[in-house]
Parts: sequence; structure tokens; C-alpha cells
Amino acid sequence: MTVAIDGPAGTGKSTVAQRVARSAGLFYLNSGNFYRAITWYVLQQGIDSEDLSAVAGAAKTLSLDVWSHGIVLDGQKLRRQLREESVDANVASVSSSAEVRHFVNHQLRRISRNRDVIAEGRDMTTVVFPDADVKIYLDASLESRARRRYDDLGHSVPLEEVRQRIAERDEIDTTKAVGRLKLHPSALYIDSSHLTINQVCEIVLHAILSARTKPSTGASGQS
Ligand code: DC
Repeated sequence: MTVAIDGPAGTGKSTVAQRVARSAGLFYLNSGNFYRAITWYVLQQGIDSEDLSAVAGAAKTLSLDVWSHGIVLDGQKLRRQLREESVDANVASVSSSAEVRHFVNHQLRRISRNRDVIAEGRDMTTVVFPDADVKIYLDASLESRARRRYDDLGHSVPLEEVRQRIAERDEIDTTKAVGRLKLHPSALYIDSSHLTINQVCEIVLHAILSARTKPSTGASGQS
């Protein structure tokens, strides 16, 4: 079974996908971590993240896999590196490369082969797994996402600044030339603005249970 979840930053996709993975016995795939790992690597190599042909050339040499807390890049386990500020600042550029996206999508499909997975990101339902058994679009208002992130940061950054940063990420996510965030016509749309994480998990688990009683299509898309 394949479960695909897309949505903008700050909707709780990762938390929901990890909890659902545990409850439903699925393998958890965080696609954003692949872009973050490649970004970390190119910065380490002194490559300009805006030089997309250099970025793609470097990315394609990498061996990428997952471990329980992040990504294994050429045998090195990455976890906190994926969250470094320099990675945050450069990952949008790296993930705008069509060649990098093609490479990452190939890794995601390879790792998913012969596994039951739950994959989350921006283009899981539309590009990477368009035939997923369950497709979810997890949304929330800008205001509620900003407030949640503000609380997560322990109010160390002004709310207005947090809201501004999320709005900028939304703009990049929804307007980039390839792999932009959009609602798949057959995705289940969940607005989590007024829902708890547990309530969202219940809805996703219910969708999985319904899909399990139907025959699977099993196919994956290509890009
Ligand atoms: O979900 P995240 O913040 O960890 O994602 C990191 C970056 O990668 C962010 O700029 C969005 C981008 N991304 C993407 O373009 N496609 C995906 N499937 C997942 C993430």
C-alpha cells in the first residue's frame, strides 16, 4: 500500500505521517529530507546552491537512503544537519532543479518498492505516487500554521516574522516551475486549522482502513 500526503509548510504533515506510520505499520518517507540532505552536501562542497547545473551534477553522484532519524548520504547518517539554518536558506533553490527532483523521485520510488509506505512532501500525490492507494492534501490557514510554529519556537521569534516566513515558503512551493504544490483532484482534502493532530491522524487512518478493503491499483507514476 502507498499513502501519499502533500501540503504546505507547518500543517503537521511529518508528525501526522510518522504517527500514522506507526499505527498502520507503514514505512515513513519524508521527501523534504532528501532535498535537505542534497542541500547540506552541496554547501559542504562549496557549490553555489543557485548554480543548478553544478547542484544537479553533484546530487546525481550521491547514494541516498533513509534511517530512522533522517537520511544516509554516502554512508553518513544525517539528522541535525538537515535542520541547519544554511540548509533552510538554500533548500528552496536546490529543490527547484528539475534534474534534482527527477533524481530524488527515483530514490523515493526505489526505496518504496516492495514496501508499504507513507510518503509526505509537496508532490507525492501529483508526481511521485499519483496512483497511491490513499492521497491526502493536508492544509491549514496561514494564521493557524504561523501560530503553531510560533509556539514550537517557544515564542523566540516574533509571530509576524514567523507568519512572513511561512507566507514566503508558500509562495515558492506553489509557484515553482516543477513539482509545485497543488491539490490532486482525487486527494482527500483536510483542513487542520481547527483540528488536533490526533483528529487528523484518525481521519487519515480511517481513509487507510477504507482503502485496505478495496483492491489496490499498485502502480506508480513517472517524472
Ligand atoms: O518539508 P520541508 O520543509 O522539509 O521541505 C524542505 C524543502 O524541500 C522545501 O523548500 C520544500 C521542498 N520540497 C519539495 O520541493 N518537494 C517535496 N516533495 C518536499 C519538499
